[in-house]
Order: sequence, then structure tokens, then C-alpha cells
Amino acid sequence: FVPPSTGGGGDSIAAKDAAGNDVVATKWLKEHRAGDRSLTQGLKSDATYLIVNDKSEIEKFGLNAVCTHLGCVVPWNTNENKFKCPCHGSQYNAQGKVVRGPAPLSLALAHADIKDDVVFFSPWKETDFRTGQNPWWT
Ligand code: FES
Repeated sequence: FVPPSTGGGGDSIAAKDAAGNDVVATKWLKEHRAGDRSLTQGLKSDATYLIVNDKSEIEKFGLNAVCTHLGCVVPWNTNENKFKCPCHGSQYNAQGKVVRGPAPLSLALAHADIKDDVVFFSPWKETDFRTGQNPWWT
């Protein structure tokens, strides 16, 4: 069985919105402004933030929302421009880099690419551009 719309890169999957539909980029950008970070369903069904960057484009990376401490889903705090975990107070900057513990690691990255107006996530296997280190999540 070959899924009809993976758009190449066999391990990519379409981001899903809250209703379980594929995220359509043009529609998403009408409903989400620059700076927005909203949850979608990503790789392995993990809650994953889709980012609208300052140019009002969908950012080329998404952020896995699972806190690297004990796994709570980390909410985005627009006013403070960071992610703040409600469970034990860990904080991550706007790119998901950990800036306050007890979380030991930054939020996992995923590639976000648009194919035929649908947003796809695929595994991020390259260097973590936030830390210059190999990804801890692969
Ligand atoms: Fe996020 Fe503990 S689970 S700080």
C-alpha cells in the first residue's frame, strides 16, 4: 500500500488540524497571523506546533510540543514569546530551545514543507540549528 499524497520523502506525513483534516497552507495562513504557534498533529501523532513566521509564511520547521522533562504538552505564551510548561515550570524560547529547566533538552524539531498546498512534517535528522548538536530525538 502506498498512500496517495505523501508527496515524496516516504517518511513525511500531512499535518492534521484539530478536526483531523490535512492542514492546507493557504487556509491556515488566512486564519493564523505572523508569530502564531498553533498545535497540529505531527509525526507519530505527537502534538506539534506549526509556526507562522514574521513574513507570514509557514516556518520550515515545526516543534514537538512534548516537554522534554516528563512529557506534558507545553503551551505557547504569546505575551512572553516563549513556551512555558505548566507542570514544573520549564521554559523554551520561540524556537523551542530550552532556556529554563528542569527540562534537560530543547523541543524536538520536525521539517515542515508545503506540497500541493498541504503542510507535511518529516523527521529532522540534521544538526539542531539551535544548539549546533546532533538531534537528541533520532
Ligand atoms: Fe514540563 Fe516537567 S513536564 S517541566
